[in-house]
Order: sequence, then structure tokens, then C-alpha cells
Amino acid sequence: MIVLDRENRIFTLHTLNTTYQMKADQYNVLLHTYYGSRIDGCDLSVLIQCNDRSFTPNPNEAGSNRNYSLDVMPQEYSTCGVGDFRLPSVELELKNGSHTVDLRYKGFRLEKGKCPSEGLPGFYGSEDEVETLVIVLKDAAAQVETELYYSIFENYDLITRAVRVVNQGTDEIRLYQCASLCLDFLRDDMDLLTFNARHLMERCPDRGPLRPGILSVGSVRGISSHQHNPFVILCDHDADEDKGMCYGAMLLYSGNFEAAVECSQFENSRLVMGIHPYHFCWTLEPGQAFTAPEAAMVCSPDGFGQMSRQYHRAVREHLLRDPYHGRQKPVLVNNWEATYFDFNADRLIDIAREAAALGIGLFVMDDGWFGSRNDDNSGLGDWQVNLEKLPGGLEDLALHIKDLGMKFGIWMEPEMVNEDSHLYRAHPDWVLHVPGRAPSRGRGQLVLDFSRKDVRDYIYEQMKAILSGADISYLKWDMNRSLTDVWSAGLSARRQGEVYHRYVLGVYDLLERLRHDYPHILIEGCCGGGGRFDGGMLYYTPQIWCSDDTDAIDRLRIQYGTSFCYPACTVGAHVSAVPNEQNGRVTPLNTRGITAMSGAFGYEMDLGRCTMEEKNEIRRQVKNYKIHYDLLHYGDYYRLSSPYQDSVYTAWEQVSPDQREALVNVVFGCAGTAPLFCTLRLKGLDPALQYQVDGTDSFYSGKALMNAGYPLPSVQGDYPALQIYLRAAG
Ligand code: DGJ
Repeated sequence: MIVLDRENRIFTLHTLNTTYQMKADQYNVLLHTYYGSRIDGCDLSVLIQCNDRSFTPNPNEAGSNRNYSLDVMPQEYSTCGVGDFRLPSVELELKNGSHTVDLRYKGFRLEKGKCPSEGLPGFYGSEDEVETLVIVLKDAAAQVETELYYSIFENYDLITRAVRVVNQGTDEIRLYQCASLCLDFLRDDMDLLTFNARHLMERCPDRGPLRPGILSVGSVRGISSHQHNPFVILCDHDADEDKGMCYGAMLLYSGNFEAAVECSQFENSRLVMGIHPYHFCWTLEPGQAFTAPEAAMVCSPDGFGQMSRQYHRAVREHLLRDPYHGRQKPVLVNNWEATYFDFNADRLIDIAREAAALGIGLFVMDDGWFGSRNDDNSGLGDWQVNLEKLPGGLEDLALHIKDLGMKFGIWMEPEMVNEDSHLYRAHPDWVLHVPGRAPSRGRGQLVLDFSRKDVRDYIYEQMKAILSGADISYLKWDMNRSLTDVWSAGLSARRQGEVYHRYVLGVYDLLERLRHDYPHILIEGCCGGGGRFDGGMLYYTPQIWCSDDTDAIDRLRIQYGTSFCYPACTVGAHVSAVPNEQNGRVTPLNTRGITAMSGAFGYEMDLGRCTMEEKNEIRRQVKNYKIHYDLLHYGDYYRLSSPYQDSVYTAWEQVSPDQREALVNVVFGCAGTAPLFCTLRLKGLDPALQYQVDGTDSFYSGKALMNAGYPLPSVQGDYPALQIYLRAAG
């Protein structure tokens, strides 16, 4: 709900549990006055105290009033060069060389529904579900207007933000920074949580207190990256899963980004998040506008758990555009770890036949089916079937798979090219490269210049020929290197600062065309696993291969970190063979199944090599997954313990929205010599209900399970796991 106090120029945005407030003050500065637990009917600018502070300049119109300084006041969208020395949200250069930006309140408008931002991903909602406030700020001297968009998804405690900068002058403007979100706090006694690490170990949470100066994470790799995720949390020092104030900030963007938090001299703090300013410079001709990617905030006064569940619901219901919406997705089998590049049609059909017999419904052919692609040094860019491997072509293979009662999917890496390819030999100028400089390789490949429409059009035609030439219902869109040598032959020297962003827009453009032309195809995003696991990609690819690390124990950590923002249904997760390909670890098949099942579930192994006992176990897992599909995908997710803190076990739970069903998942660590007896306290149940355990005669009240706990059986061996199904009696 948006509440307007026109007289006092106060804008209050209420969600179910939170309130966000801004006020245009006497000098038309838009102040941020509050974000937190819901408070109705207050002007929260009373919280702002102004005193005369030295070295904090006063705006000219404040006259002799030395108490008023932009450097002290909480700003809604921070400017630069006029007296606020903290992190700016916007920086631009005028024709006269000035970098000063001074944005003042000009007006507002209300819109029903969500304002579409063309070419960029965003949460969506109907006019009944969403309302949008647009506040217009203007720098009169620079002739620049900035529109701040706030869309309220009330039941989800979610507020999305976007920013549009318009050049209203007669000269060009060069935009060096345009943040999506600026959030000022009248406090700095908070922790910052970020989600970091590397390829094969993505989104590991890191938590630490704010301290004087700037803390920041980001990416200049051209992708959102394995190293830092464009999602951060600010929270109370003592916030945990169930208590404490938490502010989540998610950027729906898949390229260079930065999230920076600054603690100021007066113990205030500011979060600024958006496209990374590195090598960003966007030229705006008179009349042109630039729209920054969307950011989405969830504030939870009740800890991380509630914040995550609100993000999960909002992503599932207002961000994903899933062709399987309301239907079960098939369990998939992917041949990558089973065969790598070494396969032919017969080998693939054998794997698919085994899979079909186990209840698996989708066969995915990974890398290596096209051009001269027999290893990762050649073939990318040549999207023609390798007839030596697949003599009947894709159509024939797809028919064989269909005859087995399965759907057929394929792998592509549209953004890349190998030098050893027909495409590169014909168009060496189509790759990102700086004239006179030989470009760096990554995995032996170069990056196609997706900022160029002609390059995208060519690739799209190739993709269309493949996707229309056979019965294909799934596409894994992979991307396997960071961007370097970022320069485009399609843009003038002055516009080279646009290439990184235009590249991302190009990826979105092609994905949108695919979605439009092949609405039935499920696209799974992938970037060497989770190198582009962000809200931007999820808008186009409703599931993303979460990590190239398929070891169940490593996955506990990766999936735990991922769950802070992203729902389980988006997390591509497969059971693979042991010893694990990445780290050699041996884990029980049951453990691998339970771990992968809390995601978009599949297998990635040569099922023909499984023993009869293993096949029976896989058949049981697939059946179990289908039975509990709704709980696993749409249930409320509770992290019961952290794989980083608890060496005995890692546990998590899914609870149905009506609280009548729950699935409890526990994975133990290495065998201990003296078995421990553990009780596990559950969450999210109805205290008044009696729950039956796994269909047995054993019943526990919700109150007992949540307060006293459930007695875990003692277990033997390394990494055993169990899954407990609870159903309310009566
Ligand atoms: C990286 C992906 O993450 C893997 O799953 C696999 O598809 C390979 N690329 C294929 O080259």
C-alpha cells in the first residue's frame, strides 16, 4: 500500500510487515526517513537530527543555517559533488566537464501494476497485485531528470526499485554510474552478509560487522560471477534464522555489479548497489534515457528465515516464467559426467533407456554433439550436428528418445566461439577484442560480441535451425569464461564504456527471443555451474545449474548459501557417481538423492553401470521426488542448521503452506567412534496439530517437535542421510 501525505510530501510504502518512507524536505531534497517493521501513520523524519558539524557543507539555499548538510542527512538517492561525501548513486559528466549532480524533488506519479523496463528482467505482477510509485528528481542546472521507481509486492514484503535517467538538455551527457538502489540507515551497528567463493564452491556466506570505511563485493568479469553473488544482507549483529532485523538486497543483473556499504563519520551507513562503475560510461544524447537494472529489497524483522521465504515466494510467483508452471517438471538425466565428449547415438540411447526404466522423464545431451567438438578446444560456434557421432542427426535421436517415453533436451553455449571453428575463421572480428591486441582465451575459447545485433542475429538463426529441426523440449544455455578484452567493433571509441552492459542486454535479448519463439522449451541457465546465478537470469531461465561441483557434501554448503535468496525449484541439482568427479569423495546414494532432491532434480551418471541395488534405490528416489514434488518445490524452506557450523549434521525442512505436511532432511558428517544422540528441533509446524512420522504409528505434536525436538536415530558410516515425512493426523 502506498500512502501519500501530499501536504508534507511524505511517501510511505507499506508491505504486510514492513514500512519504507521518504520525504521531500524544505529544500526539495528527497530524504530517506525509515525502513523497518511496519509503522502506520507517522512522519519518521523526526528521527533525523541536524547539528552544525564542521567540514559538512551547507547547500546554498540553506543560507546561514549551518545545521543542514547533505553529508549528514539520509538520502534516498545520493548525489555527488554538492556536499554529500559518502557513496554516490549517480555520477555523470556534462559537456562543460562538470561531474556534479544535484537532484531535487520535482514530483511523483502513481501507476497501477508494474512499469515494464524494456530489455531488462524484472519481477512482474498484475494491476491488482502491484502498485508503483514513481518519484521524479531533477537537476535543473544539468537538465537531467531521474525517475525512481518503487513497486510494492505487499504480501511478499518485497519492494522493487529501478532508476531511469533522462537527458533533457541540448548536449550529450556521459553517465559513469547509475545505481539501482541506495539505502541509508541512521545506524551502523549491523553485519553485512555476502555470498562468495569460486567456481565449484559458489555462494558461501560470509558475515562480518560494518566498520568505518567501505566494504564492497562485486564483479568485473562481465558475468555476475562465481566469486560474489549480486545479493547481500544487512542485519542486526544478533540476527539469526528466527530473529533480528534483516535487509536483503538483490540485483536482477547478470553482468558487472557492485554492492558497497559505507559507514560514515556519524555512525550512519549506506548501501549502494548497481552496475559496477568499472569501464561503464553510457552516452545519453539529448532526449535519451538510461534505465538501471532492477533491485529487489525484502526487509524481515524476524530473521533470515522469514526473509528467505519471502524472496522464495516472490521469485516463484512473480519472477520465474516457467513453461512447467503448475505442472511437474520431469526428472532429468544428463550425460556430461557419464561420457564427457566421448559418445555416440547408441551410447546416449543406452543411458536414456536405463533412465526411462527408472522413471526419469527427460534426457539431456550435453556438450560435444556439434561441429568438431571432441574436446573443449574446438567447435564452439558451429551449431551443426556432428554426423559421425549422431548419424541420424538430432531429429532421429530425438525420436528414439521420444520412443522411450522421454523428452529430449540439448546443450548449447551460444555466446562463445573457438578459434578452431568455421565461424571464427569466417568472422574473426566478431569476438570481443581490442584492436592490435590478441585476446585472452578462457577454456580455450573467445567471447562473441553479443553487444552487436548482427552477431546475435546470426547465432539466433543457428539456434533456430537446431531447435526447430527436432523435438526439443529443454535447452541448457551454458557460458564458460569471464569476459576480457572488452571492446566492440560495433561502437565508436566514445561508446566503448557501453560494451559490458550492452553485452548483458544482448544475452537478455536472445533469451527473450527464444522464450517468445519456443515457449514450451525449458531453458536451464548455466555458467560453469553457478557463475551467473542471479535474479536477472532467472527471469529467462527458471532454473540454473547451481554448481559444477556435484559432490553431495560440498553441495550442502552451496545449496545452503543459495537458499538465502533463491528458491529450491531454481537450483539445478544432480545425483552423480562416486567417487565424485570433482573431489573423489564417496557418499551413499541415498545421501546424494536427498541432497539433490531439494532442487530441480536430476541424475548425471552412467546409469548402465549401476548395480541392481542402486537402480532400485534410484527408482525409489525418483518416485519419492514425484510424490513430494509440491513440498520440495513450493514448500516453505527452513534452514535447521548450518553446514558451516554443525559438524554432526546439516538439516533443512520444507513445510507445506497449510502446515499439514513437512519433509525433514538430515545429512550427517563423517562417522564418529562414539555415536551421538541428537534431537532436532523443527520449525514452521502448526503447534496444535499431531504429525504422523513416515506413515508409522509414531505421532508427535507440532509443539513438541518444535520445542523439544525429534530424536534422530543413531547412524553408522560416513555421510549417511535421512528424510522424514510428517503428515498432520485427521
Ligand atoms: C560446464 C557446465 O557447467 C557443465 O555442466 C557442462 O555442461 C560443461 N560445461 C560442458 O562443457
